[in-house]
Amino acid sequence: LSYDLLVVGSANADLVVGVERRPGAGETVLGSDLVVHPGGKGANQACAAGRLGARTALLARVGDDAHGRLLLESQRAAGVDTSGVLVGGAPTGVALITVDPSGDNSIVVAPGANARLTPADVRAAGRLFAAARVVSVQLEIPLETVAEVVRALPPDARLVLNPSPPAPLPPEVLAACDPLVVNEHEARYVLAGGPQPVGATPEEWAPALLDLGPRSVVVTLGERGALVAVRPPDGSPAPAVHVPSPRVRAVDTTGAGDAFTAALAWRLGLGDELPRAAAYAARVGAAAVTREGAQASYPTAAEAAAL
Ligand code: RIB
Ligand code: NA
Repeated sequence: LSYDLLVVGSANADLVVGVERRPGAGETVLGSDLVVHPGGKGANQACAAGRLGARTALLARVGDDAHGRLLLESQRAAGVDTSGVLVGGAPTGVALITVDPSGDNSIVVAPGANARLTPADVRAAGRLFAAARVVSVQLEIPLETVAEVVRALPPDARLVLNPSPPAPLPPEVLAACDPLVVNEHEARYVLAGGPQPVGATPEEWAPALLDLGPRSVVVTLGERGALVAVRPPDGSPAPAVHVPSPRVRAVDTTGAGDAFTAALAWRLGLGDELPRAAAYAARVGAAAVTREGAQASYPTAAEAAAL
């Protein structure tokens, strides 16, 4: 197969301002100077995997504009195959991002061209799907396009889904996830749509998430690492396994989850068991929070190993 990882998803120009604190409604605050970084959850994942050395392709849509060229350049610099990046139809997606002194971010996304990545675009990319070991998708593109990705999945390929930003997922999409990758916020959202009351701790969430249909689940916990759980073949309750994260000083957490998910997807495709792949992914995610920006912060395999 020619691709370790095919990422289907968004590409955004990230307009980033540092703030002492976020303004409330009706309030104005002064921030730092504006920085424009290549971002978007799909493009971030592809870039992270490419930088690690994975053979990676990206299926996405950008505008015929300066932001689109910035994104294509970032993908090429990471060695990503951009033959599936469609150009035109709307301006490139934009993310308005504030980062506070603790490195935490708030993001508003204007979808632009991402909203024009259609099921027909997925069907036209059969060549990329046929060559992919793992396909990774997120929710900054239309839900019907995500559903088409599930239908386009070759029988021997594995689907990794990060439902971000959270939206109600059709059962056939949930059932295809191996794993479903969620942070605490996304876990609560997905669980709220299910029959079970949301448990108090992430340890209780993992089996409850498995009950909703995915073959495996990863709950990311930021600096506390991640919880992983695989559905046992006999349906017995699956205990969650805790995977730690290396301790680092957070500068900017933007896109760290995307780096985690990309590294996880790549390692799973190479044959790692889920806990081992998640431990590797935690190093990659930790490395990404030590530097500014999303794609700009992603480590090489050597940098991730040095943590
Ligand atoms: O996950 C981080 C990403 O979310 C940013 O790069 C921004 O573009 C938004 O899509
Ligand atoms: Na970062």
